Amino acid sequence: MMAGPTTGRPRFADEGLFPVGQVRRLATSEPPGEVDETKRNVLKLLAVAGLVGATGGGLVAGSIQYAQPPQIGIASYPRVQLLDLDGSVLTVAKVEKEYNVMTSDVLLFNYPLRNEPNFLINLAPAQAGGPGASNVKNGIGHQNSIVAFSAICQHLGCPAPAMHFYPPGTCPQTPGGRSFYLHCTCHGSTYDAANGAANLTGPAVLPLPQVILEWDSSDDSVYAVNQVGPPVNGHLSTLQGDYPVGTQSGLTKQSGVPLCNFPP
Ligand code: FES
Repeated sequence: MMAGPTTGRPRFADEGLFPVGQVRRLATSEPPGEVDETKRNVLKLLAVAGLVGATGGGLVAGSIQYAQPPQIGIASYPRVQLLDLDGSVLTVAKVEKEYNVMTSDVLLFNYPLRNEPNFLINLAPAQAGGPGASNVKNGIGHQNSIVAFSAICQHLGCPAPAMHFYPPGTCPQTPGGRSFYLHCTCHGSTYDAANGAANLTGPAVLPLPQVILEWDSSDDSVYAVNQVGPPVNGHLSTLQGDYPVGTQSGLTKQSGVPLCNFPP
């Protein structure tokens, strides 16, 4: 496969879904059964204000002042078990056998909030002697090769599938000659998946936040337990801005078509 021209804005099969500059950072709807006490109190206060009517002018003013957007989020990073595509418990054995570095499919899970997608990437070689990486920063599994990074670009917040992982050898000319890189098709930022998702080329300048994974060897299961690096793009804090994912988070898969358009 030959590299395409490197001038002009990068192209991508899905780019119609993500116009240049679009930032998709909307909070999801309130989970059933979860009660936001701030919202409830605001509604109670407004109801009381309506009853007092004309005599409650001062109270109404106070109520409106109180009706700020509710703060949603969590106080600390939770321990969240990852589930496979079919809803079963995800195991390291499954990842090592089927989700290897040579697939262009993107595996995603939300953590710690429902609007914060992350890549799950196994950088180990699919076959002995093949291209791959092991003992990468914060990797888990038998080769310390399984890692997770935010799938929201640190430039203007384009999420997967505009953000994509390119298997080694997909394109002949890669940023800095790297083999393991993530590419944002919105404006061309690239990140080194084998080096903590460090930024390779702009316009982004920061690395992607990394989700810290934990391998429970008692049953081979996988947990997300923390996040390091800068906040997820668009949030002052990665812990604020939507509802938490809960105690489990399931993988989803997106197929992409890498087009090998990189900045020189
Ligand atoms: S949003 Fe601009 S490069 Fe990713």
